Amino acid sequence: ARGVVVVPPQVGALASGGHGNGRLAEPAAIVEYLRRALALAELPPHRSLRGQRVLVTAGPTREYLDPVRFLSNPSSGRMGLALARAAWRRGAHVELICGPTQVRMPGALPTAQVHRVTTCGEMLAKSLRLLPRTDLLLMAAAPSDARAAQPRANKVKKDDAGFLQPALRRTDDILLQLAGRKIRPFTVGFAAETHADLAAVQAKRRRKNLDLLVYNAISAANPAFDVATNQATLVPRDGAILALPSLSKAALAEAILDAVAEARRTDGLDPRP
Ligand code: CTP
Repeated sequence: ARGVVVVPPQVGALASGGHGNGRLAEPAAIVEYLRRALALAELPPHRSLRGQRVLVTAGPTREYLDPVRFLSNPSSGRMGLALARAAWRRGAHVELICGPTQVRMPGALPTAQVHRVTTCGEMLAKSLRLLPRTDLLLMAAAPSDARAAQPRANKVKKDDAGFLQPALRRTDDILLQLAGRKIRPFTVGFAAETHADLAAVQAKRRRKNLDLLVYNAISAANPAFDVATNQATLVPRDGAILALPSLSKAALAEAILDAVAEARRTDGLDPRP
């Protein structure tokens, strides 16, 4: 009632020699809590995500061909982590589903639930489990679009049949699975394209039934994957298209959440005054 913020203990090795929940929070986590308290004090109410459950997907997936080879892409997970952190700072309860990534989960998301997955199938299963409890879905992951029809149990030798032409299948499109549902969270998707115009991007937004699409025109100047900055264009269901300048992924995450707040306010979806 007095507005005290409790920084919870962390899980790990304990002074007793045991392992569990009871470690003093890391300094980075304490700093994050301070930043969050300060940010929340200044946030206009319509931008607050207090009481909201946000699901973020991040990073690539790996589709194994055999025990030592997989199909994947250069996604680092940075954009998804930036979104998770920004949503957490706005007061949300954040669940993060993260593919294999080297980017360290900052001690920065102390209350977030982090779910590590490897394949697109695992990401889909985890997403479907968490969706009924989700108000806002931020689909920043770059799941592989193809998988092995039959991953091989043993390493394939380069002289073996099929080594150069493994039989592939398409993976399930997680967003498309949600597209037809009546009850969906407010849904944000991403599209990284090298050859597209805004009409094609709008068509993808409609096909995936997205409330907001974050479009990256990939070029040598804007590789988007595995770099710290990103130039994006925000394409909402209704309302004006917003071409942003090149921003850090942290700043882009804030701009995306601002656009979500704006869209929900105009949609009348936002339950808060
Ligand atoms: N996505 C998804 N499930 C997949 C692949 C992608 O939910 N199996 C999501 C991504 O997280 C992203 C969006 O879909 O938010 C855009 O992915 P993209 O690959 O650009 O869409 P596609 O329809 O696969 O487009 P294309 O056929 O042009 O590759």
